[in-house]
Amino acid sequence: MAAKLGSDRVAFVKGQIQDLALDVAALNGYLAQHPISTAEDLLALRAWQDRQRQTAPLIKDNSVDLVVSNCVLNLVHDSDKEQLIREIFRVVKPGGRVAISDIISDEAVPAHLKQDPQLWSGCISGALQEHEFLEAFRAAGFIAISYDKWENQPWQVVEGIEFRAVTITAVKPAGSVCLDKGHAVIYRGPYSEVYDDEGHVYYRGQRMAVCERNYQLLTGNAYGDDFIGIAPAQAQAGKPWDCATGTLRAVAATKGAVHEDQCHPGGGCC
Ligand SMILES: C[S@@+](CC[C@H](N)C(=O)[O-])C[C@H]1O[C@@H](n2cnc3c(N)ncnc32)[C@H](O)[C@@H]1O
Repeated sequence: MAAKLGSDRVAFVKGQIQDLALDVAALNGYLAQHPISTAEDLLALRAWQDRQRQTAPLIKDNSVDLVVSNCVLNLVHDSDKEQLIREIFRVVKPGGRVAISDIISDEAVPAHLKQDPQLWSGCISGALQEHEFLEAFRAAGFIAISYDKWENQPWQVVEGIEFRAVTITAVKPAGSVCLDKGHAVIYRGPYSEVYDDEGHVYYRGQRMAVCERNYQLLTGNAYGDDFIGIAPAQAQAGKPWDCATGTLRAVAATKGAVHEDQCHPGGGCC
């Protein structure tokens, strides 16, 4: 394949999307050496798998810039879907992105359709419902989750339920330490207010107090051009963030003055 592509920067590896730490080629090697015929063999296999995931993961934590997937998530059993999205989150670098195309349903898929193996392999039964698909990525910790593409025309209609192709994009946030250093952002609009995926509200046109980490997220690539960033006029050492969502930043704090009491519980202005 490298010769065909004219480059060896491409590596094909074998794994399951819900278990990206386990190298399936290595697993095949183990099974060739240790065929399973007893319960003890099976327990030894499980112990070997655990060791492999720890010591020689197929895809390491925080190692991937961009995960692209087309029509695979719906094929994973419902009980493994949460783990599958956690795995995607695990391998993406902080600040890295995902672009996931899949089939979604407009209504919940009933049990009798889920039990139909042909509909499973046909990318129908395992489809998440349209809001669940986004929520699963939010629950895993992604932010800036959006429907990038939405086919108006359903791909298939089964018992009145529309199954359509969509693509979502999302970002893994960088940084977890939230220090108040006096930053503010202004949401440009067009909506009167918006909430981010971590539950913070931004009122259109207001100087909203944000910690340095959220300032970087909101003014970086994840949210395009939706926010105007206003850095503190005077560099501040920073203290752990303890403002309620909806706290406004005093104008003076962003143009020279430093206020002692920068936020009020309940979201008022300083
Ligand atoms: C509908 S095809 C899509 C293939 C390809 N992504 C494309 O766009 O043409 C689904 C593929 O996912 C693979 N697959 C199914 N379950 C998987 C899993 N748990 N982990 C990784 N791949 C899986 C199948 O073997 C099949 O190749």
